[in-house]
Amino acid sequence: MEPQSQNLKTAPFLTLGRFHISEDYGFLLPNPLRELPGHYSPWMEIANRLPQLIESHQLRAQVNEMPLLNCQFLTGYREWRLAHLVLSFITMGYVWQDGETQPKEILPRNLALPFVEVSKNLGLPPILVHSDLVLANWATRNPGGPLEIRNLDTIFSFPGGESLRGFILVTVLVEKAAVPGIKALVQAVNAILQPSPDSLLQALQRLRVSIQDITGALGQMHDYVNPDVFYSVIRIFLSGWKDNPALPVGLVYEGVSEEPLSYSGGSAAQSTILHAFDEFLGVRHSKESADFLHRMRDYMPPSHRAFVEEIRGAPSLRTHVLSSGNGQLLTAYNQCVESLAALRTYHLALVTKYLTTAASKAKARRTSHLPRPPQALEERGTGGSAVVSFLKSVRDKTLEALLHPSG
Ligand code: HEM
Repeated sequence: MEPQSQNLKTAPFLTLGRFHISEDYGFLLPNPLRELPGHYSPWMEIANRLPQLIESHQLRAQVNEMPLLNCQFLTGYREWRLAHLVLSFITMGYVWQDGETQPKEILPRNLALPFVEVSKNLGLPPILVHSDLVLANWATRNPGGPLEIRNLDTIFSFPGGESLRGFILVTVLVEKAAVPGIKALVQAVNAILQPSPDSLLQALQRLRVSIQDITGALGQMHDYVNPDVFYSVIRIFLSGWKDNPALPVGLVYEGVSEEPLSYSGGSAAQSTILHAFDEFLGVRHSKESADFLHRMRDYMPPSHRAFVEEIRGAPSLRTHVLSSGNGQLLTAYNQCVESLAALRTYHLALVTKYLTTAASKAKARRTSHLPRPPQALEERGTGGSAVVSFLKSVRDKTLEALLHPSG
């Protein structure tokens, strides 16, 4: 074997480990911590009782009495991630405890200062992000058991009971279903570099299957999440203070900045999966959609963001497939694109059910026992986008990536 090709084989261009992505769990934080050092018990005591404190409107009073804690006793990445998760949950509860019409416009310094410090340390914004709500917020009941809903639990919750639990855990399963796809993507990038048409073909076929499995996992939302509860109870706690008429100028982080700061709310648009697939398959979104999606990358852990950038900088799969003249590769590529568009069509139907239809039902049912839904957010997603037109454009642009055999 020639030294150069040996080199390529033993030192592939792309590995998951370089980007702190797990071979078993993908972008999920493997077995997240549930306990912080004793010094942080004032945070944990509040975070562990969050749904009750919010529902009884006592959270703000409790937070106001919380001591200002020093972050120096946090050690290691997993503790910092847990601290971000804890502080982000408390923050969302604090701001939205009394609903959309009475948000808190100032986050008190005993919460704002440590939250901003933890966020800076992790390279994350000081707001709840997908990597808190989902990636670091899961635990197995029986550690040896399978990753299925009945063997999973969230670590922290908001009001919303079983639907909130289902919403988070189904998304955990979506992230898990993406793991073979992420590995296939790495295999494919390396197969272009080596080059190895057989390995590339196999990788594309694996990627298609994984995308289809993601769609299947997404379907479990119907089994576990009640649309009325999602719309009227859960959604507000994921909402941010950017492009949100309920908090039009943003939120003042006391002791951090006199000026209010604006951040988008938590959304699976911040999940790295589809960003990575889009870059790999060469999907090009409209300027407006791309601006939003690229902004969402600032809400990912920096190593996951770097992974997307690495794929963006890798040799183009589309160019490779076209110039290879290999019909099997072209078909396999197109099947990936079609599966990705189908996933986005399925997601659109979910959004119609959980947002659009739920919104009109809520309007018609103002007198019911459920609290009033966040009206200012009716047309917008938690990330702040004008939802349906954005999602349709993203789906349609995916289909435009389909390749046609030349000649
Ligand atoms: C009830 C379930 C869900 C609802 C109501 C929902 C809603 C939305 C909304 C409103 C947006 C627009 C962006 C924003 O403003 O936040 C969005 C975008 C997005 N969502 Fe979801 N979502 C759900 C579940 C999921 C799950 C489980 C995933 C998978 C991780 C996901 C992945 C995405 C992605 C990747 C985008 C960005 C657009 C794209 O790249 O296609 N969503 N979602």
